[in-house]
Amino acid sequence: MLPSLALGNPGAQEETMARERVAAPKKLIAYVTRTDNTKVVAEIIHRAVGGTMVEIETATPYPENYDAIVAQVVREDEAGYAPPLKDNVKDIQNYDTVFIGFPTWNMRAPPPIRSFLGKHDLRGKTVVPFNTNGGYGVGSGFQMVTALCPRSNILHGFSTRGGLEKEGIYLAIKGQMREQVHAEVVAWLRSIGMTAVAG
Ligand SMILES: Cc1cc2nc3c(=O)[nH]c(=O)nc-3n(C[C@H](O)[C@H](O)[C@H](O)COP(=O)(O)O)c2cc1C
Repeated sequence: MLPSLALGNPGAQEETMARERVAAPKKLIAYVTRTDNTKVVAEIIHRAVGGTMVEIETATPYPENYDAIVAQVVREDEAGYAPPLKDNVKDIQNYDTVFIGFPTWNMRAPPPIRSFLGKHDLRGKTVVPFNTNGGYGVGSGFQMVTALCPRSNILHGFSTRGGLEKEGIYLAIKGQMREQVHAEVVAWLRSIGMTAVAG
């Protein structure tokens, strides 16, 4: 038996593996969701490209009531307010690609996206925005991402129709519609060169 020769130096090997894990390209899929449409798109992306999924949440939840949340979001947009977030992402430096998903609120990205992009330095990283909306489109949402990530490589975003809470349509991306959105997401990922299933 030549254990030391056969096994080499296990301590050093582990160290190398740990270093490689840290150095390997890592993807973060961060999203805001209220009625889960954007979360479903995040899950489709996650299954296709791997990485880590995390929900962007405000420290104080938004009101349950639709009219109340709309009024609050309008106020926050007018003030340019960035609501404090729960500390769900502690290791942003470990990621080289950050997907940022959000529903359209008030024809913009939700205020917590303003907070997230203000709080985390994404310079030098690849940023990939995606969106669901009530049928009126992404509005200025992708522009907000571009404006708040001036030193990132921003890829072409994905936007699709989700629910429409004001008409009582909550989670719409399910069943047949989920299949359709799945196909659209996979085609989009391919078009921006993101197909590999990796960590
Ligand atoms: C406060 C609020 C404002 C919204 N404003 C818009 C809007 O301006 N345009 C639009 O198309 N949809 C709007 N919607 C609908 C959402 O964008 C749509 O339902 C989306 O799919 C929800 O995503 P989620 O299920 O991940 O929360 C709004 C929804 C909420 C709760």
